[in-house]
Amino acid sequence: MTVRVRPAQPSDGPALFAAWSNLRAHNSSIDRRIIPAPVSEQEFFEGLTEVFQRRASATFVAEVDGRLAGFISGGIEASQPDRLPERHATIGYLYVEPSCRRQGAGRDLFGAFTRWAASYEGVAHFEMPVLALDTGAEQFWKAMGFTPFIQRLWAPLSAGDGRDRE
Ligand SMILES: CC(C)(COP(=O)(O)OP(=O)(O)OC[C@H]1O[C@@H](n2cnc3c(N)ncnc32)[C@H](O)[C@@H]1OP(=O)(O)O)[C@@H](O)C(=O)NCCC(=O)NCCS
Repeated sequence: MTVRVRPAQPSDGPALFAAWSNLRAHNSSIDRRIIPAPVSEQEFFEGLTEVFQRRASATFVAEVDGRLAGFISGGIEASQPDRLPERHATIGYLYVEPSCRRQGAGRDLFGAFTRWAASYEGVAHFEMPVLALDTGAEQFWKAMGFTPFIQRLWAPLSAGDGRDRE
């Protein structure tokens, strides 16, 4: 399988919408607290146009036999105001179609995104949230050199009135 990674372009819109929808379905199947908000294809295209115009964002696609097999999307964002360095790279979405996994597409997408992020002055690291129950994603990011950092906790409001602990 030969994987070709390139910057996404507006004509990738329909294939990206399909892959993004698959990623959202994957995430909600991993943890039912993930409830995807309804987003129409038209709304997705409008958002994608804005993303393409943002200098601090980048999206790359992986092609196999001329077909979109995966994508990565992320950007440069500000760190908390009381913590240095001021900015870091973050990845919002990464997805590879199940039939194309474990053949280096995820690694190649991450490599392309990393080279793009490295062109930003003052940006030297990544930070991003990952679903705690997604063991595949955890193993992938570990293989890419990531380690746990700040943990995001979750609880229903009822946890605060003590009922859940009685
Ligand atoms: C995570 C994901 C992007 C990995 O894509 P991929 O193309 O299969 O990844 P690669 O083939 O480049 O894998 C690189 C290395 O990561 C590790 N790895 C990847 N997936 C793994 C898994 N399911 N279990 C264990 N290790 C894994 C391996 O070390 C692998 O190297 P190897 O195949 O030589 O052993 C893909 O499984 C996916 O789309 N999952 C669903 C969505 C998701 O979890 N996205 C990331 C969270 S934002």
